[in-house]
Amino acid sequence: MIDLRNVTKIYKMGETEIRALNGISLKVEKGAFLSLVGPSGSGKSTLLNIIGCIDTPTSGEVHLDGEDVSKLKDRGLTKIRLHKIGFIFQQFYLIPTLNAMENIELPMKEAKVPREERRKRTRQLLENVGLTQREKHYPNQLSGGEQQRVAIARSLANKPSVLLADEPTGEIDSETSEKIVNLLRKLNSEEKVTLLVVTHDLKVAKHADRMITIEDGKIVS
Ligand SMILES: Nc1ncnc2c1ncn2[C@@H]1O[C@H](COP(=O)(O)OP(=O)(O)O)[C@@H](O)[C@H]1O
Ligand SMILES: [Mg+2]
Repeated sequence: MIDLRNVTKIYKMGETEIRALNGISLKVEKGAFLSLVGPSGSGKSTLLNIIGCIDTPTSGEVHLDGEDVSKLKDRGLTKIRLHKIGFIFQQFYLIPTLNAMENIELPMKEAKVPREERRKRTRQLLENVGLTQREKHYPNQLSGGEQQRVAIARSLANKPSVLLADEPTGEIDSETSEKIVNLLRKLNSEEKVTLLVVTHDLKVAKHADRMITIEDGKIVS
């Protein structure tokens, strides 16, 4: 369902070229939970961004559910991001002026989901991440772990087939990290979403069905 074929990413910075990814080929089957580890600067975020249609490869192909997305332009990429991809970041990126419910609802508004359906899905997601009692809280009234749970619920709003998490526990203490990973694993099976988690934390990585190590833009194990 995710099929990368010889993906290379080169960033050009004036005269210098940075080869962030160097011929990555990888297949991830539907519903799998994969973790990605590797040193800082090895290309993990670049890889996730390319799978998540935030960025495009310099060469190679990226197939999602059988569709080659590597040649899509902005409009096509935006559509895939909205409907197929959920993204979770280390810094949560919640909208500070919206409460938990409204943050979760936002991607559904963008996708023009009718109000009734939006409300129903938001309530369900709040329940799934254990935040029913926090629905009216603003981000600054929530702990780091709670904010990340809101971000996770938001990422699942439009029922993506792929959930990508870039260092999702990077800003969270280790006890709460464990809870976040358990939640991600639960949602991976409940929502039947393919899950890719980039992490420094081997305790987090070991929860996955499969672990990939990247060094210098290449898969080494
Ligand atoms: N937008 C960018 N422009 C130029 N260079 C970049 C950009 N993003 C990442 N890089 C470079 O590509 C390499 C891989 O970065 P990244 O994917 O962020 O690594 P990781 O997530 O594993 O720490 C690094 O050398 C980084 O400096
Ligand atoms: Mg990174």
